[in-house]
Amino acid sequence: MSKKSNITTLKPLPRHVAVIMDGNGRWAQRRYMPRIMGHRQGAKTVKEIVTATRELNIPYLTLYAFSKENWSRPAEEVSGLMDLLYEYLQKELDELLGKRIRLRAIGEIEALPDRVYDLLMETMEKTSRNYEMQLILALSYGGRSEIIEAAKRFAKRCMKGEMYPDDLDEGSFRSFLYAGDVPDPDLIIRTSGEKRLSNFLLFQAAYSELYITPTLWPDFNKKEFMKALNDYRCRERRFGMTSEQILLRCTSSES
Ligand code: IPE
Ligand code: IPE
Ligand code: MG
Repeated sequence: MSKKSNITTLKPLPRHVAVIMDGNGRWAQRRYMPRIMGHRQGAKTVKEIVTATRELNIPYLTLYAFSKENWSRPAEEVSGLMDLLYEYLQKELDELLGKRIRLRAIGEIEALPDRVYDLLMETMEKTSRNYEMQLILALSYGGRSEIIEAAKRFAKRCMKGEMYPDDLDEGSFRSFLYAGDVPDPDLIIRTSGEKRLSNFLLFQAAYSELYITPTLWPDFNKKEFMKALNDYRCRERRFGMTSEQILLRCTSSES
């Protein structure tokens, strides 16, 4: 195999990585600790993976931190998670500013407790002029309700006579989603071995590559992250086409 074709077989890094950070509870329970200790340890992993993403120049990282369904967990766990989120935002602002990372949120963030909501808005505003990387936190997020809310927003524009049903296509529909300017995730990682999306980015995940590891989120680290990225880089994304078509497209874009 020529040197050139070797280079083309290793694909570029993903532009957008999304992570379903799962397994905090089991991590704690295995140590006979309260579940919140697992979430606390998980917050340390968040720091490590954000740093690694920035170092690798990956421009978008979405982290599923709290689902709409997670509101039904015991009140004590929910309030512990809200405290942790508040603490994370407080502690990480300088780091985000120093590393030129913009913080964004997707989800029904109005449902968050007032002090968390206020600090989140403040952090988003303070980091809004950072262009190197976007860290997108999915908070009180549900994929189905994102789609339903988008449909409602579109319907309201139609009612006002500003848009017509035929204006809607996959591109225009995106603009009604929480962060329609963000490209679809190329790679979705789920820790702790569960093989499901749990209502995460249902519209955007249509052609994402999935990587599932049995490692629990608090044990996930830069080395494991690199393993996931390397796995992704060896894959062929075909988007419905044949392998031959993809190869032809690659070679013609090289010449
Ligand atoms: C993921 O860990 C974090 C959140 C859902 C907030 P879990 O708390 O779901 O951990 P397990 O799945 O119970 O181990
Ligand atoms: C998904 O994890 C949500 C987050 C990681 C925030 P869950 O632990 O809530 O998912 P299920 O309930 O096992 O599907
Ligand atoms: Mg879980």
